[in-house]
Amino acid sequence: MYEVLIPRVLEAFARPDEAEQDFLRRVQASDVRLQQQYRTQRRVGSEIYADPMIRAAYLLRYLGHYTLQLGDVLTGLDGNPEAAAVLSQPHLQATALCGGPGPELIALAALHAQLGGSSLALSVLDHNARHWADCWPIAQAIANTYPRHPAVSIQGLATELLAPAVSPWERELLQQTQVMTAMNCLNELVGHGRARLETALRQRLDALPAGALVLASDQAFYGACEAGIQLLHALLVERGARILLADITKAQCHSVANRFQVPGRIAWIYGAEQNNRFRVHVQQLRLAARMP
Ligand SMILES: C[S@@+](CC[C@H](N)C(=O)[O-])C[C@H]1O[C@@H](n2cnc3c(N)ncnc32)[C@H](O)[C@@H]1O
Repeated sequence: MYEVLIPRVLEAFARPDEAEQDFLRRVQASDVRLQQQYRTQRRVGSEIYADPMIRAAYLLRYLGHYTLQLGDVLTGLDGNPEAAAVLSQPHLQATALCGGPGPELIALAALHAQLGGSSLALSVLDHNARHWADCWPIAQAIANTYPRHPAVSIQGLATELLAPAVSPWERELLQQTQVMTAMNCLNELVGHGRARLETALRQRLDALPAGALVLASDQAFYGACEAGIQLLHALLVERGARILLADITKAQCHSVANRFQVPGRIAWIYGAEQNNRFRVHVQQLRLAARMP
């Protein structure tokens, strides 16, 4: 993945004529800033993603890990005929709540390509959509190269999930959605209050068509993520959805070793002298369900 990711990040975010080392030094400073925020704040406000260098740092550090994170949800569904029935449809329309740069696209494309799918379209609903838009061609280039999916596309719409009402265009999109994901956003969303999140999730679930797949994953480390995924689980059960996978407590979380060898070209960014080793929490909460 990094063979595509690194040059594409350079192309999208480096200044014209900026030397690679100079650019990567700026990425390093942004990466340190992002890590400091993650370490010191109870929740990271998503305003930080408006900064292009933070997005570049996020892509290099997290895109691979988060692709595998959704991949682990899909692997957990291996052999499940109900999930396969949805994921093997030739034309798949997916919607990523809080999809950011869209690692969801790459993970879904890998499985959809394996299942013989012919086209996959992902819509990212995110209040930072206009910022993350410069990352989507990168996610698409990776999905075209590694899974070799024949036709993937990604688009995004700026959405405030906690707004009191779902807009008509978002409702229309959700009504055509076969797979809805929510990954790595519950910490922030729960921070705005359980009642607001409950309304937001309820509205989205109620807009989905019968048979749609709902996939969620988040970091087991944060109590808010656990509370958020349990809330989603309860709403799914209330609606009569069939629960296909539910690792929704810290005790049950899915643990995996770090599976990326960071390439030498960028490894120095994460050097010990920066107290900034290249790793992410790999203890995940996972939830998958099919709407009745
Ligand atoms: C940590 S990123 C995760 C992105 C992606 N799902 C991933 O795993 O890489 C969290 C995303 O949630 C979005 N977000 C947070 N609160 C939101 C809200 N209330 N409405 C819409 N998007 C929100 C942020 O803009 C950010 O892109």
